[in-house]
Amino acid sequence: MATKVERPGAQQWVPEGADVEGLREAAGSCHGCELWEPATQVVFSAGSPTARLALVGEQPGDQEDRRGVPFVGPAGRLLQRAVDEAGIERSDVYVTNAVKHFRFTQKAPGSRRIHASPDVGHITACRPWLAAELAQVDPEVVVCLGATAAKALLPKEFRVTKDRGRTMVLPTSRGEKTFLGTIHPSAVLRVPEEDRQAAYDGLVADLRTALAALG
Ligand code: URA
Ligand code: SF4
Repeated sequence: MATKVERPGAQQWVPEGADVEGLREAAGSCHGCELWEPATQVVFSAGSPTARLALVGEQPGDQEDRRGVPFVGPAGRLLQRAVDEAGIERSDVYVTNAVKHFRFTQKAPGSRRIHASPDVGHITACRPWLAAELAQVDPEVVVCLGATAAKALLPKEFRVTKDRGRTMVLPTSRGEKTFLGTIHPSAVLRVPEEDRQAAYDGLVADLRTALAALG
C-alpha cells in the first residue's frame, strides 16, 4: 500500500507582504510538499518584477534544477525565441512555474533524471507561492504554458487543445486580470519534425494574442 505523503502546502513558508526577492529567498526553505528533498534547489522565477506580462510554466527541468533559474534548458530557449518573435519585450516579462521544485524519476543514483509531471497535490501545495508572486508583480496578462499551469490558475473546465489562445478575464486578489492558456514549449519540442513548425507558429500566435491584450 502506498504510504500517505505529508503535504502541508507552502502557505506557512510564504512571508506576508514580501516582495519578489523576499519570496525567492523564503522559497529556499519551503517543505510544503516532498519535492524539495530530491531536488538540487528551488527554482523561483526570473524576469522583471514589474512586468505587464507573466508567463507560467510547469516546473523546472533538469537544467533549471541545476542552475536555479527557470526556462534555461531546451524548452526555455524555444520559449525565448517565441517571445522575441511575438514582438514581446523581454524586459516586460516575468517568468515562473506552477511548481517550484523539479520532480523526476531516476533508475539509479547518478543516472539520468527523467522529468515526471507534478500531480494535482503538488500544484495545490505550491500554489501559495504562485499566488503571492502574481499578487506582487501584478501583471496585466498571465499566460499559462500547458496543462499544469492551467490547472493552477484557470477554470477546471479549461482544456489546452480546445480553449488555447483565447483570452479570459478572471477575478484575482488584485482585481480582474486577463488570462490565456496555450501549449507548453516542451510540447512543441515533442511534436514530430514535419509538424513542429506549425506547433511553434501556434505558440507565437498565442503569445501575440497575449501581447495585444495588454492595455
Ligand atoms: N519547463 C517549464 O515548465 N519550466 C521550466 O522552467 C523549464 C521547463
Ligand atoms: Fe514548496 Fe513548491 Fe517546492 Fe513543494 S514544490 S517544496 S510546495 S516550493
